[in-house]
Amino acid sequence: MYNLLKGKRGIIFGALNEQSIAWRTALRAKEEGAEFVLTNTPVSIRLGTINSLAEQCGTIVIPADATSVEDLEHLVSEAMKHLGGKIDFVLHAVGMSPNVRKNIPYEDIDYNNFFKTMDISAISFHKLMQTLYKMDAMAEYGSIVALSYIAAQRTFVGYGDMADAKAMLESIARSFGVAFGRKCKVRVNTVSQSPTLTSAGQGIAGLKDLYVQTERVSPLGNASADDCADYVVTLFSDLTRKVTMQNLYHDGGFSSMGATLCE
Ligand SMILES: NC(=O)c1ccc[n+]([C@@H]2O[C@H](COP(=O)([O-])OP(=O)(O)OC[C@H]3O[C@@H](n4cnc5c(N)ncnc54)[C@H](O)[C@@H]3O)[C@@H](O)[C@H]2O)c1
Repeated sequence: MYNLLKGKRGIIFGALNEQSIAWRTALRAKEEGAEFVLTNTPVSIRLGTINSLAEQCGTIVIPADATSVEDLEHLVSEAMKHLGGKIDFVLHAVGMSPNVRKNIPYEDIDYNNFFKTMDISAISFHKLMQTLYKMDAMAEYGSIVALSYIAAQRTFVGYGDMADAKAMLESIARSFGVAFGRKCKVRVNTVSQSPTLTSAGQGIAGLKDLYVQTERVSPLGNASADDCADYVVTLFSDLTRKVTMQNLYHDGGFSSMGATLCE
């Protein structure tokens, strides 16, 4: 361990169970010396196992629906109280599409579901950053990271309206990165992660086949949730202070491959 996050305070969204990318990131952040609070929706807190993660990390869970500005304001103010100061890093690992969950094909999507997909998986990132910005909650040279997927750029049948949400998520990172950079040197980036066998991942039809295929195509193989945690920790650290407004592929090289014979 390198003490990369010693003295840093954070908020981590989206740890549902041990497979969650946010769960793995919380454990790595703890190892690197960070203090943070965890958050998820009341339903996910009840159905998942986040309280055991909180115990392992010696922290608390503050319930919040990421689509509710009121919940976000409460979360940010409680987090600053608990941690005793401004926030150095935030992980937005939030995603859900009712259309994908119900296996509704893209050409047939229900628009109420579509709005929910966009609100939960993309606009919540704007709501979160606007809340942090207005409350002047981010410390200088802080870092905000959201998790994306290459379906924002290329079409993967089965990913449905989540592709549109990820495209918007990445755009929000670029747009808000300007204001946050100018205000207090805060970085805003998205990490575009390999297919990963988590609850959200397994909600995508055909994810397991896709996982096998991308494992073969990617020169380094798929990046695991633990690999992602390592990468996100570097983005929270002081070693990446000039990286902002980027969509950073973390996918074993998959995004640069063309049609290729696999070994
Ligand atoms: N698993 C993959 O293949 C993969 C690949 C690339 C990107 N991602 C992204 O990584 C992020 C984390 O997903 P994961 O794969 O760890 O799965 P996960 O199911 O463990 O995490 C998704 C989380 O989103 C939370 N969430 C849903 N609605 C919410 C709301 N309204 N408010 C707050 N939280 C809410 C869930 O409770 C859950 O904890 C997501 O943005 C996902 O799209 C996943």
